[in-house]
Amino acid sequence: PGDQNRRELLEIRAAGERATGLTRQLLAFARKQVLSPTVLDLCEVVRVMEGMLRGLIGEHIELRFRSEKEPLWVRADRSQLEQVMLNLVLNARDAMPRGGVVDINLCDIEIDEAQTSRLELARPGAYARLVVTDNGSGIDPQDRPHIFEPFFTTKGIGSGTGLGLATVYGIVRQSGGSVTVESTPGEGSSFVVVLPMAEGQAPRVEEAQVGAIDLPGGAETILVVEDDAGVRRAVVKTLAQLGYTILEAADGDAALRVAITHTGPIHLLLTDVVMPGQSGPELAKRFFADRPSASVIYMSGYSAEADTTKSPPGPLLQKPFSPHELAERVRSVLDGVARRLL
Ligand SMILES: Nc1ncnc2c1ncn2[C@@H]1O[C@H](COP(=O)(O)OP(=O)(O)O)[C@@H](O)[C@H]1O
Ligand SMILES: [Mg+2]
Repeated sequence: PGDQNRRELLEIRAAGERATGLTRQLLAFARKQVLSPTVLDLCEVVRVMEGMLRGLIGEHIELRFRSEKEPLWVRADRSQLEQVMLNLVLNARDAMPRGGVVDINLCDIEIDEAQTSRLELARPGAYARLVVTDNGSGIDPQDRPHIFEPFFTTKGIGSGTGLGLATVYGIVRQSGGSVTVESTPGEGSSFVVVLPMAEGQAPRVEEAQVGAIDLPGGAETILVVEDDAGVRRAVVKTLAQLGYTILEAADGDAALRVAITHTGPIHLLLTDVVMPGQSGPELAKRFFADRPSASVIYMSGYSAEADTTKSPPGPLLQKPFSPHELAERVRSVLDGVARRLL
């Protein structure tokens, strides 16, 4: 009977976690109506994400990125493209539990009449092509016709929402492109995305640059506390690129030492929730005792955390997050604090 209770508890928790993932995906769907497409260099979009993706997939998987042509101007929404990258790369990771290689390849291609109808594209012409290849499990031929359907998943309860590829499909079609897959069971899969090149539309240089510097930055000082070195590196790199001064620590004790020895202001504590030693919320309490005007953002993974019923007492950034989400959230929390102090 004890076992039975425990199983029920686990299942309830899994359902809760799945709902969280689901809500986030649906928000991504909803958000796309608000954000407007600009002319972006697809190479730059991927490059900005590279560090973060590397951190997310872990050290047992190698990430390779190659671009055969630069720039590749496409008309799309940056955070939507990031969503596409995230979903394809996380699926590749899930397909390689014992490690492997994810290859991201970008190039330009000419699409002719015959391919246009095969790929259900509006017109032939110049396209940018993104290929994400893994050498993982591959896709069962029986599953193959269903993988882009919403809610189709072969992953266990709590780990798959079945919305990743449906999201990718929605975004790519909305941007006038197509997504196809080639896969050999036991050998791996290749997801191929093509997007119409924006060149024919004579993108203005200023418009393109607005796209490139889309992420909001700042000059404040941020203390990043995260025990996963890959994620920490990715976050630190992204924020440093945006102009922030970064202090970093691998756990709560190290973070408090940094906070005591650093003589300048620390405007924001960006901390993992669950870490070896003291937790994020425990760290924050001690940190605020000395620096009461600072603010905090918690980072948390939705499947790994021990107790999902207890959400941290402050703004939460769900992993995996994109550089765009990170930049936006940091800026909005810092601005919120600035307003409160006025
Ligand atoms: N790179 C891949 N290798 C093997 N199978 C994949 C890959 N990408 C997607 N799939 C299959 O497609 C299904 C649907 O993917 P997705 O829509 O992202 O949902 P989820 O990842 O939540 O299961 C997965 O459950 C898996 O069976
Ligand atoms: Mg997925």
